[in-house]
Formats: sequence, C-alpha cells, structure tokens
Amino acid sequence: MLGYRAMTGDDLDAVAEAERRIYAFPWTRGNFADSLAAGHDAWLAQENGQMIGYAVMMRVLDEAHLLNITVLPEMQRGGRGSALLMHLFDRARAQAVTRMLLEVRPGNLGGQALYRRHGFAEIGRRRDYYPAHGGREDAIVMARDL
Ligand SMILES: CC(C)(COP(=O)(O)OP(=O)(O)OC[C@H]1O[C@@H](n2cnc3c(N)ncnc32)[C@H](O)[C@@H]1OP(=O)(O)O)[C@@H](O)C(=O)NCCC(=O)NCCS
Repeated sequence: MLGYRAMTGDDLDAVAEAERRIYAFPWTRGNFADSLAAGHDAWLAQENGQMIGYAVMMRVLDEAHLLNITVLPEMQRGGRGSALLMHLFDRARAQAVTRMLLEVRPGNLGGQALYRRHGFAEIGRRRDYYPAHGGREDAIVMARDL
C-alpha cells in the first residue's frame, strides 16, 4: 500500500544514503536538512512501511518549484513516480499554487518523459546549472499550470 508522510530529521540518513546510490551528484544530508529547516514541502513515499521514494518542493507565493523527486531504482517504472508527482500536485493546489516549475538534466530522458507525460513543457534553459564530470551542465526548465 503506497502512502506519503512528511519527511523528518529521523529520515535524513536513509534519504541521503539512497540519494548517494542514485545520483552521480547527490544532494547531501545537509541539503535535505536545510530543506526541512527552510520549511519546504518534503515527502517520503512508503510502501508497507518501507521508503520507496521521496520528494522536495519549495513554494514561493503561487508557484511551486520541484527540487527533488526520486524513486528507488528497484521500484522504478511501476507508476510510483507518477503517483508521487500527483501527490505533490494535490499538495501544491491545496496551498493555492497555480504553476509548478522544475529543472532536469538534458541527459535525463526518463525524468523528462515522466514530466512530459504529466503536462510539463520546456520553457527555457539555465546555463551551467548542474555540476557535471569535467565542468557544468545546462538545465532544461519545465513548467505546467496546476
Ligand atoms: C524519474 C523517476 C522519479 C520516475 O519514477 P518512476 O516511478 O520510475 O516513474 P513511473 O513508473 O511513474 O513512470 C511514468 C512514466 O514516465 C516515463 N518514464 C519514467 N521513467 C522513464 C525512463 N527511465 N525512461 C523512459 N521513460 C520513463 C514513462 O512514460 C513512464 O510510463 P511507463 O512506465 O508506462 O512507460 C525515477 O526514475 C527516478 O527516481 N530516477 C532517478 C532520479 C531522477 O532522475 N529524478 C528526477 C530528477 S529531475
């Protein structure tokens, strides 16, 4: 049974450990701790009491910025990322958010496919946004109305 609960400080070790397994340039434990301290909307997705993914979203007035959405590798392609994203849409709408934005690496075709499938379209690029091997990498900026 898939469910969601707010991320807490007690989750940070497990989240940071998952993050290191999944990303070449992971968020640190401190990045997640800062997000909690800043009051961002941070969620844990759980199945049968086990973490299967997580997400962090920052709201500024009527816009939400999706900062991180992750499903554990062994749990991907089963609809869980879509469900987590829809949970965030619901949360954002409940806070009177009218638009959601995000950045994605040009090489992350899976992420882009997920976002397109859920109504996001490219609205621009941010130069040298991401750390990359041997330099920096641009970000594709995507947005959708809620
Ligand atoms: C991106 C991510 C969150 C998607 O989670 P997920 O649970 O696998 O997503 P879903 O199963 O809900 O996928 C929904 C649809 O998105 C698209 N999609 C998702 N992952 C894809 C992939 N690797 N390649 C191509 N399309 C993909 C497909 O259209 C998929 O539908 P389908 O499986 O019926 O074809 C997950 O792959 C992940 O955590 N990746 C690593 C971290 C990451 O890149 N996060 C995003 C950073 S911007």
